[in-house]
Amino acid sequence: MNLLLIQSQEHDKLPIAELNAVLECENIAANIIEITPGLVLLKNLKNEDFYKNYKRLTERLAYTHEVHELIFESEKQDLKSNILDINWNDFIKDNFAVRVKRFNEDIDTVTCEKDLGFLILNSFNKEDNIKVKLKNPDSFIRIVAHENRFYVAVEKYKLNKKHFQDMKPHKRPFFYPGSMSPKLARCMVNLSRINSGDLLLDPFCGTGGILIEAGLIGAKLVGSDVNWKMKNGTAINLDHCDITDYKTFHVDIRELKMYEKVDAVVTDPPYGISTSTGGVGSDEIFFEFFQSIYDNMKDDALLCMASPHYLDLNPMLDKVGFKLMEKYEIKMHRSLTRIISVIKKDI
Ligand SMILES: C[S@@+](CC[C@H](N)C(=O)[O-])C[C@H]1O[C@@H](n2cnc3c(N)ncnc32)[C@H](O)[C@@H]1O
Repeated sequence: MNLLLIQSQEHDKLPIAELNAVLECENIAANIIEITPGLVLLKNLKNEDFYKNYKRLTERLAYTHEVHELIFESEKQDLKSNILDINWNDFIKDNFAVRVKRFNEDIDTVTCEKDLGFLILNSFNKEDNIKVKLKNPDSFIRIVAHENRFYVAVEKYKLNKKHFQDMKPHKRPFFYPGSMSPKLARCMVNLSRINSGDLLLDPFCGTGGILIEAGLIGAKLVGSDVNWKMKNGTAINLDHCDITDYKTFHVDIRELKMYEKVDAVVTDPPYGISTSTGGVGSDEIFFEFFQSIYDNMKDDALLCMASPHYLDLNPMLDKVGFKLMEKYEIKMHRSLTRIISVIKKDI
């Protein structure tokens, strides 16, 4: 069975990198076909756990807007006859809406939605009592057009896009400037390949933005910060999200000695003006962080972290015994590019 994904185009690499990471750690075998930026097919997913895996993708992904079960794909000239060949009772219950999205294809989407919607409606018997309902339909049919080819799909599970709005830092009960967007935090958690039930640490936890995202996908959490106000604020924010499986500590990264080695570290160390480094230079704090975190990680644990473009992490990684696996650049403004790195022990 196949899935059709519509992804964010706000970054050229992160949406696909995040998808790859989630498929890998959730053990979901599929062929990934990127048709064009923002449009991805996942082909040959196993039938047995298709819906479980489909649901899990919608629970985890941040840089994907929609995930649909692909019903069929077709050339433009065969689209109508292919639509008539489908038993729509298998996909539509009570009422439905058709929405068309185009990628590099010059069609009038509104007319197309009306025409194809009628075609589907007319394929039902009167007794089926199926209606078109444009707002909050029970069944949502997504049709995507790309270069003369059409992809017809049905949405079974929705991504919770509202969560990424509602969880913006200033909307949480404890706020302090310098927290990253929940979308990027979730993406970093996914890049760390954490699984439900695994232990994830953020040793510069601040207001807990990263921990919230990891907690919501089922990780056990440890957060620590040199500032006790942040440590307490993280707990307030986690409680607000009904996340219970966490521990928080008030500790300087240089003194961190975990009671148990962790499965992943995801963190946004301090740099720049809005976050305090306690008077320590950025180079120094990053190097000390690498030294201290190494022994707190399991041998196969991944570290996903943010850093400013002007810091060269490579010599520090070499010295401590880490290896860079993946690297992504996010332009923040004219003078700052944020680097997202995925790092593992070089053993
Ligand atoms: C960029 S903020 C982290 C933001 C966080 N991701 C959030 O969502 O709020 C960096 C944090 O590192 C903490 N910090 C600075 N120096 C530290 C040190 N030596 N050890 C531990 N934490 C430190 C600061 O108190 C601050 O809360």
